[in-house]
Amino acid sequence: MSNVLTIHGGKPLKGSVTVRGAKNLVPKAMVAALLGSKPSVIRNVPEIKDVEVVTGLLRLHGVVVEHNKEAGEIYMDPSGLKIANNAEIDAFAGDSRIPILFCGPLMHAIGAAFIPDLGGCKIGDRPIDYHLDVLRQFGAEVSKEPGGTYIRAPYRLTGAKLELPYPSVGATEQVLLTAVKADGITELKGAAVEPEIHDLIHVLQKMGAIITVQTDRTIRIEGVPELGGYNHTALNDRNETASWATAAMVTDGDIYVEGATQRDLTAFLNVYRKIGGDFEVSDAGIRFWRGGADLNPLVLETDVHPGFMTDWQQPLVVALTQAEGVSIVHETVYENRFGFTDALIRMGASIQLHRECLGSVPCRFGQRNFLHSAVISGPAELTGTDFTIPDLRGGFSHVLAALAAKGTSRATGIDVINRGYEKFFEKLEGLGADIEIPIKVK
Ligand code: EPZ
Repeated sequence: MSNVLTIHGGKPLKGSVTVRGAKNLVPKAMVAALLGSKPSVIRNVPEIKDVEVVTGLLRLHGVVVEHNKEAGEIYMDPSGLKIANNAEIDAFAGDSRIPILFCGPLMHAIGAAFIPDLGGCKIGDRPIDYHLDVLRQFGAEVSKEPGGTYIRAPYRLTGAKLELPYPSVGATEQVLLTAVKADGITELKGAAVEPEIHDLIHVLQKMGAIITVQTDRTIRIEGVPELGGYNHTALNDRNETASWATAAMVTDGDIYVEGATQRDLTAFLNVYRKIGGDFEVSDAGIRFWRGGADLNPLVLETDVHPGFMTDWQQPLVVALTQAEGVSIVHETVYENRFGFTDALIRMGASIQLHRECLGSVPCRFGQRNFLHSAVISGPAELTGTDFTIPDLRGGFSHVLAALAAKGTSRATGIDVINRGYEKFFEKLEGLGADIEIPIKVK
C-alpha cells in the first residue's frame, strides 16, 4: 500500500526536535505582503504544505515569490499583482482555507476577489459567514456562485464599526487585512487575540499600519492610503510544541523542543504539570518529560486565547486515556472535534462522547446535536490497529496512540500531517520511533 506509515509501538520517544514558524501565522503574513507597495521578507518559515499552497496562490496572482527552504526565508514582490484565473485558484487552493484571506488585499489592489468553496480540517462545517458579513460592512459586494464566492469593491472600501458573534481567528484576520487600507477608522469588538493575531498585527505595523488592541478584546485600525513592505521573523509554532510535549508524556519519553516559547504556552504548561508531566524552560526551548509518573485525570475545557487552545486537546486526549481515573474534556470552539476518538476506541481506549456541555465555559453547542464533550476512563491498554488520518491534529493524536500501543499500526492518509508538521517523519525517526516510512509510489 502506498503512503502507509507503519508504527511499532511501545518505545519511549527521546531526543530533541526543532520547531519553526507558526503554521497559523506564516501563511497569513504572506497574504499581508499583497498589501505592500514594496517587497517583503518573512523568516523562520517552516517547510509545510500550507506555505506551499499560499506560495502557489501568490504566484498565480503575479507576485514574485522566492523561497529559500534551508534558510526558512521567503521574499515576495507584489508589484506585478494581477487578477488570477478562478479555476486555477480553485485547483491550487485544494482544501485550504487561506484563500478567503486574499479578499481584503485583492479588493484594495484590483477591486475583486474569488473564494473557491473552502475546505480545511473536518472538525465542523467551518462556515465563513462572519467573513462575508464584515466584508459587506466595509462596502464590498458579495455574490455566491457555483464553485465559489465573488467579492467586488466598486468603490474604495470604508472603515466600519464591527462586532464578531464569536472571537473567530479567521474573521479577525479578515478585518485586519481589509481595514488597514480602508478609508477611515475600523473598530472591531469581540476580536480574537491569539499570539498569531498579535504577530500579524506586528507584520502590518511594520508595513505602516496603525492598529491598537484594547483590553476589552476591541481592535481599532486607522486606515492608511499606502503600506510598505515588511521584514519579519515569524513566532514559533506553539501547537507543534504542544504536540511533541504530549508525545513525551504519552510514550513516557523525554523530548527537548528547540524553539518552544513559554509565553505562548502558559495554559498548556499548567495542564501538562497537573496531568503529571514535567518541563524545564530555557532561553532556546523547553524540555518535556514524564519520568515514569502515573498520569492524573482532569477536567478540561478548550477556549479562545488565553484559554486552553482547541488544537492542543486531540493529542492530550491520548494522554488522558492513560491517566488513573476519569477525565472530562469540553470542546467549546468546534462542534465536531472528537471524531478522531473512533480510532482510539478501536485501539482499546474508553471514551464516551456526549451532547451536553460538561463544563462551565459558555458554549454555542449545548442542547444541539453535537457530541462535543468527552468522558475518558483510564488507564486503558492500547493495541495497534489500522487507521486513516482524519485531520491534522487528530492525525497527530492517532500516531501518538500508535506509538504508545502494544503491537503494530498502519496509518494511511498520512499526507495530511505534512500540512502543519515540518519534517514529521524525520523528527519521529530522530526521536527513536520504531516506524517504516511510506515509500511514495509515483
Ligand atoms: C484558526 O482556524 C486555526 N487555523 C485553527 O487551527 C484553530 O483551531 C482556530 O483558528 C481556533 O484557534 C488557521 O489559522 C489556519 P475560527 P479558523 O474562525 O480561523 C466559527 C489547526 O489545526 N466560525 O477561530 O478557521 C467556527 O466554525 C487549525 O491548526 C463561524 O461560525 O477558526 C468555529 O466554531 C484547526 N463563522 C469558531 O468560529 C465564521 O465565519 C472558531 O473558528 C468563522 C468561524
